[in-house]
Amino acid sequence: MNTIDWKNLPFGYFKTDYNVRCYYKDGKWGNIEVTDSEMITMHMAATCLHYGQEAFEGMKAFTGIDGKIRIFRMVENAKRMQNSSKGIMMAEVPVPLFEEMVVKAVKLNLKYVPPYGEGASLYIRPLLIGTGGEVGVKPGKEYLFMVFVGPVGPYFKEGFNPVKMQIVRDFDRAAPLGTGYVKVGGNYAASLRAGERAHKEGFAASIFLDACEKKYIDEAGPANFFGIKGNTYITPDSKSILPSITNMSLCKIAEEIGLKVERRHVPVEELSEFDETGACGTAAVISPICQIHDRDTGKVYNYCKDGKAGPVSTKLYLKLKGIQEGTEPDTHGWVTIIK
Ligand code: PLP
Ligand code: COI
Repeated sequence: MNTIDWKNLPFGYFKTDYNVRCYYKDGKWGNIEVTDSEMITMHMAATCLHYGQEAFEGMKAFTGIDGKIRIFRMVENAKRMQNSSKGIMMAEVPVPLFEEMVVKAVKLNLKYVPPYGEGASLYIRPLLIGTGGEVGVKPGKEYLFMVFVGPVGPYFKEGFNPVKMQIVRDFDRAAPLGTGYVKVGGNYAASLRAGERAHKEGFAASIFLDACEKKYIDEAGPANFFGIKGNTYITPDSKSILPSITNMSLCKIAEEIGLKVERRHVPVEELSEFDETGACGTAAVISPICQIHDRDTGKVYNYCKDGKAGPVSTKLYLKLKGIQEGTEPDTHGWVTIIK
């Protein structure tokens, strides 16, 4: 293996040595299999290919200051994948099976876990797909659950430096009673046109509004949105956003450092009242937002006037990172240390 330039890793696919798989057939999960193949063979009529029976997760493992490897909030990801299964009628992966396969995938690829202090982490991608052949529109009977991993750098090239985002109204990512609340591929397909246009127009991501009234902030590209107003952390309450585990953790940390937390509708006009705004998620961690352009009205909202993340976002970021890297106590049992 060539040496890895940990500091300059993009957020992208990175080939590692092994991935871990388990097949669901005849109503039950089989044995865990380990492979070095990057390929999957499946039926050409597989329900994942035709009817979108696909869900994935995104989580990270970190090398701590003590050299130990920590996986962040694995059980929450397992539970969310079960919700995704319910949402699009796939077989559910039992939480212990999910945990065993994630830990196995990390352990088999230990040399790819970035060292402490390099600004990188091991991204873990659990994937569940319907593999059984069907032509009628119905849930499949066979599934493959697999976990692959790879070292990554920051999702937005800016890292913890502020990014610009764009509000769009001519695309919706998810409908109020659709699948926005689960982590299924269709939501990402629906976000691609807005996202690619935002990139072309110089923005890191598009901010989607509620699909019904286009009044409230919904999702910030592949991340949840939050705003800081004085001593309050405010984040959208919406049926069409993914319940972010990072956001859930930040709400807890925010309370612990004495902030008030509000989960409620966030009207677009309120953007002018925030002191700080940001996007949060596993890949994005916290990405402070320095500027939000409203593509339709031309209005521009500015934050981070000195070009840096605001003090509250910085404090939240450092606490979260500290728990993930073992420099802050893990008082809620959020991390799993790999033995
Ligand atoms: N929203 C969307 C659409 C996402 O893809 C993600 C990433 O997983 C998030 C929010 C953040 O969720 P989490 O913090 O659990 O990674
Ligand atoms: C994550 O934050 O893990 C994501 O899934 C975002 C994106 C890579 C889809």
